[in-house]
Amino acid sequence: MPSADLLIHNIGQLVTCRSTDGRAKHGASMLDASIIGNGAVAIADGKISAVGTLDEVEAEYSSTEKIDAGGKAVTPGFVDPHTHIVYSGDRLGEFELKIRGAEYLEILAAGGGIISTVTNTRAASLHELVDGALKRLDKMLACGTTTAEIKTGYGLDPETELKMLRVIERLDQEHAIDIVPTFLAAHTVPPEFKGNTDGYVDLICGEMLKAAWEWYEASHFLANGTPFFCDVFTEKNAFDRTQTERILGTAKDLGFRIKAHVDQFTNLTGSQLAIETGAVSIDHLDAISDDEIKLLAKSDTIGVVIPTENFSAGKTQFAPARKLIDTGCAVAISTDYNPGSAPCPSQQMAIAIATRYQKLLPSEALNAVTVNAAFAIGLGSSHGSIEVGKQADLLILDCEDYRQIAYEFGGNLVASVIKRGQIVYGSR
Ligand code: NIG
Ligand code: FE
Repeated sequence: MPSADLLIHNIGQLVTCRSTDGRAKHGASMLDASIIGNGAVAIADGKISAVGTLDEVEAEYSSTEKIDAGGKAVTPGFVDPHTHIVYSGDRLGEFELKIRGAEYLEILAAGGGIISTVTNTRAASLHELVDGALKRLDKMLACGTTTAEIKTGYGLDPETELKMLRVIERLDQEHAIDIVPTFLAAHTVPPEFKGNTDGYVDLICGEMLKAAWEWYEASHFLANGTPFFCDVFTEKNAFDRTQTERILGTAKDLGFRIKAHVDQFTNLTGSQLAIETGAVSIDHLDAISDDEIKLLAKSDTIGVVIPTENFSAGKTQFAPARKLIDTGCAVAISTDYNPGSAPCPSQQMAIAIATRYQKLLPSEALNAVTVNAAFAIGLGSSHGSIEVGKQADLLILDCEDYRQIAYEFGGNLVASVIKRGQIVYGSR
């Protein structure tokens, strides 16, 4: 009998989030979390080699190394498909302005918001940025995230955007969390281009995207087969439809895969444009139209909703995630962890909000932070679910029923995090 490196047994509820057709889960299939009772998982070389009931797995593999899950629930490690965790400084003053009634776009137009983080990030050393982001990754890992996308976008000049990319590569080398890089030079217009957005778009489409792609080609990400994304913030006071089209078109021609921040506040038809450009994900979607929802449902693009952003702004309106799923879209959830609109490391918190305000059921929310989130960053065939051949990224929860992670909030129900078959957080 072949031997495994590790056997996890006595899993009361093994929640695999397995996709039955090799695609992200669309529409009603998001209700199915693919649960096995009294389950076990065998792991060899950091990958899952068997999944099933204890009898089934023990018939296939033996292992001297065992973890007793104590009858608790086990889920895939969470995937966070949209974060901005490389930055310096904080936005505590802005938080108070918002409590007093200031709007996010108003603060941005007045030269605050993202721009204040850009000023601090330009001044920070690579080492300082790595240090700050490693601490944020530690918090994410403790909350159950085992894979995350990270964006640039607080540099907004060729030099600092590249510095951010180097930081992201360092994070991937130093931290247990697997990272997917995204180039977001088009996050907003930097002060030196104020009133000349097209001039900045020229710089992005000329020098910046090319330099970013050269960095990727020399990085370990390309060697690993990790994709590289280009993203744009399509919004008032940021980039309009025409500018978005130029940036995404240039990026696609260079080889980038595509994401877009669209419909966060204003519908500039960015969703339609991004879906037609073949975007892997479109993110935010608060102001998406019914026609765009139908277009999304027919596509392979994942709709990423960000309930932490609305919650953080004290809003009671959220992206229409219920309607997206009911129309047949594949929905993922992210924290958007960033210093301005969503200072939140926890996908558990995002699930708690999505279930209450966006009316997702716990199974839909779990699929949205695992298998669908992996598809949203181009890793759907290797990450995001407990399936033979996939990376062994699992959470042992401190509860018998996984629905508890939606029901309880403000704490942490992750007892142990297993990454590539090794315990990287918590106890045995
Ligand atoms: O996804 N919308 C733009 N970007 C981020 C916010 C970044 C920031 O405020 O620093 C977002 O919400
Ligand atoms: Fe964002």
